Order: sequence, then structure tokens, then C-alpha cells
Amino acid sequence: MTKKVSEKRALRLEFLGCPAAPAASLARIEAIHEGLVSGREAFTGWVGLPWRDESEETARLIETAARIGAQCEVLAVIGIGGSYLGARAALEICGKYHAAPGAPEILFAGLNISGTYHAELLDRIKDKDVRLCVISKSGTTTEPNIAFAVLKDLLIERYGKAEAAKRICAITDPAGGTLRAEAEAEGYESFVIPPDVGGRYSVLSPVGLLPLAAAGIDIGEVLAGARRAAEDDLRGSAAKLAAVRKALLDGGKTVEIFEHYEPSLFYFAEWLKQLYGESEGKNGTGLFPAALSFSTDLHSMGQFLQEGNPIFFETLLDVAEAPRDLLVPAGADPLLAGKSMNEINRAAAEGVIAAHRAADIPIVRVGIPDLSPYSFGQLVYFFELTCAYTGRLMGVDPFNQPGVEQYKREMKRLLTNN
Ligand code: PA5
Repeated sequence: MTKKVSEKRALRLEFLGCPAAPAASLARIEAIHEGLVSGREAFTGWVGLPWRDESEETARLIETAARIGAQCEVLAVIGIGGSYLGARAALEICGKYHAAPGAPEILFAGLNISGTYHAELLDRIKDKDVRLCVISKSGTTTEPNIAFAVLKDLLIERYGKAEAAKRICAITDPAGGTLRAEAEAEGYESFVIPPDVGGRYSVLSPVGLLPLAAAGIDIGEVLAGARRAAEDDLRGSAAKLAAVRKALLDGGKTVEIFEHYEPSLFYFAEWLKQLYGESEGKNGTGLFPAALSFSTDLHSMGQFLQEGNPIFFETLLDVAEAPRDLLVPAGADPLLAGKSMNEINRAAAEGVIAAHRAADIPIVRVGIPDLSPYSFGQLVYFFELTCAYTGRLMGVDPFNQPGVEQYKREMKRLLTNN
């Protein structure tokens, strides 16, 4: 069964057993929002990204992506963290049902340092026509640096240096960094990561849009969805959620569990973990973001959730219309036979809500109309706003990540000494 999806409906929030949003927090969020959109605060360039769809750079991006899409079988997207997770999340959510027919397969590299992963990737693309999209704001991150060197060698060996350069697209800082210098020296097609947009807030910039457009996904829909999330009603919901999250933290909850019943939301939950973890986790505060994939994880973590240490609340990513469904055949348990799998999945979700509410666990239900590019755009901007608001309420800078640098320094020290 293939279900028709509704494209234009909005996210809908429901708070179950949560504290009320304190009026003082809501008033502070109004001031926080004014600051975010003022253009005067550092690293707030992401706020305006949904409105850049008319820009010359977006037109060039769409044209480049169409060319890439028409000319190769595989696009290897190289990047990590904020230069990877957004595109991966989007492709998992809407790649299968919203990509253009005949679009290249998008594979990811440089998201780990595993020799096995990358050797297998090389095996997988050995008979394929390949292009590269390397994404790194700094140009110096270890993982993409290694993967880019490996894949560039493959291209040069296969096509020669000049043709290899034509097959590489770089997305990086407009001026600084080694990747920008290389892109200019070698003549790669390139796009800019705006300097005032941090990695985890960059999915609506070329970082996310180029891979999506290359897969034939309508990025106009993604940006329209993001603009929908900026409208008053959803911005109000983002403010309320931010205030409630802060109240939950103040009330002793230290973990937020993002949960969902559609496996294609797995990488979106990973993206949320980075967004919240890097934005809030500083100065000894922040909600620890965790993610569970249901119903799978009910069979491993269900016991803890029901009766364990109540340090957490749950944020349910609840998809109203999944793209496909199947009927359970007569051979199954009579209780299940004849029902649709989505109907049973819904019973699981409602049953878990009832059981967890009975255990007094606060639940935020984020109703997602469907798994479309439009819904993806809404989700991204909605959670970015919520995260920025809560970070400011917590008194941290939601746009820096000083702690990430520390392990990088230690790793470089070890490599230098060996
Ligand atoms: O959010 C961040 O800053 C990080 O996750 C970075 O995006 C990640 O480390 C990749 O950095 P870069 O784009 O400089 O390679």
C-alpha cells in the first residue's frame, strides 16, 4: 500500500505531564528572539538561511547539483558532524520517496576514521562513475581530510588530474582554511559555508542543500518548510518548548530522550543529539540528549524507561502519515492479522504514552505530518530555534563548542609524538 502524503501541514506540539512554561521564561525568549534576528549577535547567520532561496548562489547550487545528478552514478559526500549529519538525516527521511528518478546514489565518507568502512566504500564504488562533494568549514578536520585524500587519489588514478578536479565540489569557508586554498588552486566548483553559521546550524546552507539537490530533492520545499516554522504559531510553540525544557531541567530532569517509531528518523535524532549536545553542554549545565528507536529499543530499554531512575523526559517525534504500509496476513496472531502495520505501530506509540504517563514521565509529542522535504525543513528550523532559545535561557552560548577542541588537541599531540 502506498499512501498519499500531505505536503503542507504544520508540526503540532502537545505537552503531556510537563510543567507549565513559566511566563518569565516566555518573556525572556521574546528578547532572546529579538537578539537572534538583530544581525548583531555572533554566529546567528543561520536565522536567515530559509530566505536565501532566491539568491544567486542558490540558483548556481541548483544548477550544479543538476549537473552532478545527471553526470554520475555515485556522489560521495565527505564530511563529519555539522558538515554531515543534516544531509544524512534529510536523505534518510525523504530520500527514498522524494528523490528524482535516476538520481545518483549518495554515499557518505569521512564520518569516521575506520579503515574498514573506507576500504568497503572503495569496493562499493569501484565500477561506478563517481563525483565528490567535500564539506569542511575549517578544511582541517581529521576524518574528512583522510577520506578526501583517499577518494581524490582514486579519481586522479581513474580520470587524470584535470578531469578529477572537474569532478570535485568543495563546500567550505569563503576565505580561510586549506580547503578553500586548494579549491581555488585546483579550480574545483565551490560553495560557501557562511562564516556566521556554525556547523550544527548549517543544514539549510549549501552544506545540506547541495547533497539534497544532487539527489533530486526539491530544496525549495525544504526551505519553504523552514519558513513555515518561523511563522508566529510555530515560533510560539518553539518558545513554549524551550521554556518547558528549561523548567524540566530546573525540576531535576537531566536527560532528554528523543524517540520515534520510524527507522528513517534515526539520523534526524542523531542530528538532534549534536544540535542540543554541542549547544547546551557547557558551563556544567545542559540536558543530555539521548535517542531511542522504537519499537526496537522498547525491547532493550523499555524496562529502564518504565521503572528506572527517572532522570529523563521524552520527546516523541510522532509521524502522522508514513509513506508506506503493509497488511498483516492471516497467518499472524489473530489479534494482529488483518490490521495494518502502521495501525499496530500507532497502538505501540499510544500504549507507551499511557504506560509512561502512568509512571509520571513528562512527554512532549512533536506531531510531524509526514516524511516530506517540507516537514524536514520545518523540523530543522523549529528545533534550531528551540535550541537557541533554551541555550540562552540556560545562560550558555548555544553557538560555540570550546570543548570539542580539547580532544582534537590531545589526538594531534599523540600523533605528533609517534
Ligand atoms: O558543529 C561543529 O562545529 C562540528 O560538528 C563540526 O561541524 C565538525 O567538527 C566538522 O568541522 P568542519 O566542517 O570544520 O570539518
